[in-house]
Amino acid sequence: YYLGLDLGTGSLKTVLFDVNGLEIAASAVEYPLYQPHNGWSEQNPEDWYQAALKTVKAVMDQSGIAPEQVMGLGISGQMMGAVMLDKNGEILRRAILWNDGRTSESCEHVRHIVGDDLFMKYSLTPARPGLTAAKIQWVKENQPQIYEKVEHILLPKDYLRYRLTGEYATEVSDASATQILDIPNRKWSDEIMTAMNLNEAMLGKVYESQEITGYVLPEVAKLMGITSKCAVVGGASDNSAGGVGTGVVAPGRAMTTIGTSGTVFAFSEEPVLDINKSVYTFCMPVPGAWHFMGSVNSCGASLKWWRNNFYPDDLEYEQINKDAASSNPSANRLIYLPYLNGEQSPHFNLNCRGSFVGLAAIHTRADMTRAVMEGTTYALRDILTGIRNCGVRPETMRMCGGGSKSPFWRQLMADIYNMPVTLPDMNSENSAALGVAILAAVGTGAYPSVVDACDKIIKMRDEVYKPDEEFAFIYDKVYREFDALYPKLKENWK
Ligand code: XUL
Repeated sequence: YYLGLDLGTGSLKTVLFDVNGLEIAASAVEYPLYQPHNGWSEQNPEDWYQAALKTVKAVMDQSGIAPEQVMGLGISGQMMGAVMLDKNGEILRRAILWNDGRTSESCEHVRHIVGDDLFMKYSLTPARPGLTAAKIQWVKENQPQIYEKVEHILLPKDYLRYRLTGEYATEVSDASATQILDIPNRKWSDEIMTAMNLNEAMLGKVYESQEITGYVLPEVAKLMGITSKCAVVGGASDNSAGGVGTGVVAPGRAMTTIGTSGTVFAFSEEPVLDINKSVYTFCMPVPGAWHFMGSVNSCGASLKWWRNNFYPDDLEYEQINKDAASSNPSANRLIYLPYLNGEQSPHFNLNCRGSFVGLAAIHTRADMTRAVMEGTTYALRDILTGIRNCGVRPETMRMCGGGSKSPFWRQLMADIYNMPVTLPDMNSENSAALGVAILAAVGTGAYPSVVDACDKIIKMRDEVYKPDEEFAFIYDKVYREFDALYPKLKENWK
């Protein structure tokens, strides 16, 4: 048996799988998101650890399997955050998360210090405010009394690894989004580290994602109901864990995952740079492979915001889906821009904000609901366009993450992308957890490689959501209108 821990922004979910990828038990715990100023976004890493203890214990209790039968564990994590620890491994401040909006200026400073040439050469993207380097720079400049105590800087899931195993380490897929990794060579870039005054001891050793990085500490294993024979493998960024969990491990394959953010993701055999600089090229959690990806910051988060304010009692999104279906394609000519928390691909602008454009007296709550779902999906299509421009031409789109639970959203995606959408033959919400459980199974020797494990474990459902020609035509037109809005509205968001 293998455990997959998915450290998300909304919750930490633990799923126990058998060696064939069959789900045995699952448990999730939510924790607070702190937004002390407009655009700031932080969490307390201690909350993640407590959630890990609780959920692993819960799945072990539910499943009734013996503690020593869990051979390995993988962690999938929200990307791009910065957890800062002192020399004793104590947390120095709350973690600054991937969707934090404070770093526009620090990003310009780090661009000046390191230079976009070095960033382009190693991190395959110019300096970006959402990536970890800008967050490190922000703390350095704004909280020097904290920064002088920093001995370790970890990504969110690597903090959990530290609490579970006592090791300071990371792996290639998540480290790709720090701007400090030499992505083509899959190791820290000495030149970028030197320019930023960092070193490997601070950032941790970089592993391949399926490699064993340590074993669960005896006292932690006891609290979790497992043993210290349980290996902890590198794991992966949540998006690339979803890539493994949906079988996007061969050329031509792509997937979209909708959680708090939404990501379009495609496999690549080479570390090819996007000349348009609209999507990232990161290491795949498969040795010798890479992927393209870009994210919509507020994807599921847009719908959750909408639900919290206008459907406060509908935790299951039932009425929301019904309302969206009752409106029509284009939501009676209402367009929603999902930039509630700034945007990553393709704009990379932390200051832009959401909008409804075209509101008229005829519009109802149902139209607005549909506009939110359409607008987030147009933003995803922007990324698909960026990935296609890199030469990847997927024939179908695999879908996973919380948003994939909605049949309405599946069909909407097929219509807006104008391509068939398929789902893995499992609980598609748990694909990231499955992805890292697969890495754990490979790392502990149950399969010879990640690709082999995916070939045996991942099956797609027969059900295919095909684009409706008439709807696709309408959406294509509105998508162009959507795309024309950002440049016009940009001036308002300085
Ligand atoms: C990555 C991103 C997010 C986080 C959230 O670009 O923005 O998907 O990984 O969990």
